[in-house]
Amino acid sequence: MTSEPVTQELTTVGACVMQPVELNQCLGIDGAAWTQFASHWEDLAPDRYAADLGTRRLRRYGHFVFSPAGGTFEPTMHDAFIQPEDSNPLYIGTDRHFEPLTDAFAKDPLLQRILAALGGLAMALADATEWDVKVTPFRVLATAGGAGQPTPEGMHRDGVTLVTSLLIGRRNALGGESTVTDMAGRPVLATTLEEPGTLLVGDDRRTLHGVSPIRPRDPSRPAQRDVLVVTFAPSR
Ligand SMILES: [Fe+2]
Repeated sequence: MTSEPVTQELTTVGACVMQPVELNQCLGIDGAAWTQFASHWEDLAPDRYAADLGTRRLRRYGHFVFSPAGGTFEPTMHDAFIQPEDSNPLYIGTDRHFEPLTDAFAKDPLLQRILAALGGLAMALADATEWDVKVTPFRVLATAGGAGQPTPEGMHRDGVTLVTSLLIGRRNALGGESTVTDMAGRPVLATTLEEPGTLLVGDDRRTLHGVSPIRPRDPSRPAQRDVLVVTFAPSR
């Protein structure tokens, strides 16, 4: 189900962009499926931790356990989002509480397919019999008066094995360039995710990532950037 060239690039280079045509084929969908999937992003909740830093960000959070043997993703009890040590300097030691995924989103067959495809990539990076999978849909908003920071923490790790960002939609947005570097800050990849269904994947054990601010193209209206961030870390 996962693409051989993407797996190859991820394991050698450490990061890779998968274009929608390739991802759609992997998932067995056509481009129109993203329009319907995007409706879940109309039902997110404010991120008060980002608000403290002056950024308007909406999100939800879900936690699954992936068992490769059965190919299953079991939702866990809703829990606090704990940033692993040695990763995101802003939030280490701070449990953050976010609204859970809606039922409609958690059970969306397209989400299940996306998770299965990403699970294949995680397995290419490490052998584990059980994986912690964290699922976060994000919307970052910006106005003429205030840029929107997709990653207010700057370049960082998530403290996991596989980190992925899937572009769901951009409206009226300039900027939002994703950068991946090695641990010494040398560039690995830079790209602006523009089209729904574009997927950025990275080996979080050996790369840092960050996204530049967005701002409105037309200053009279807000800019927004919707992504789905999914991470995988071995739990067993
Ligand atoms: Fe991150």
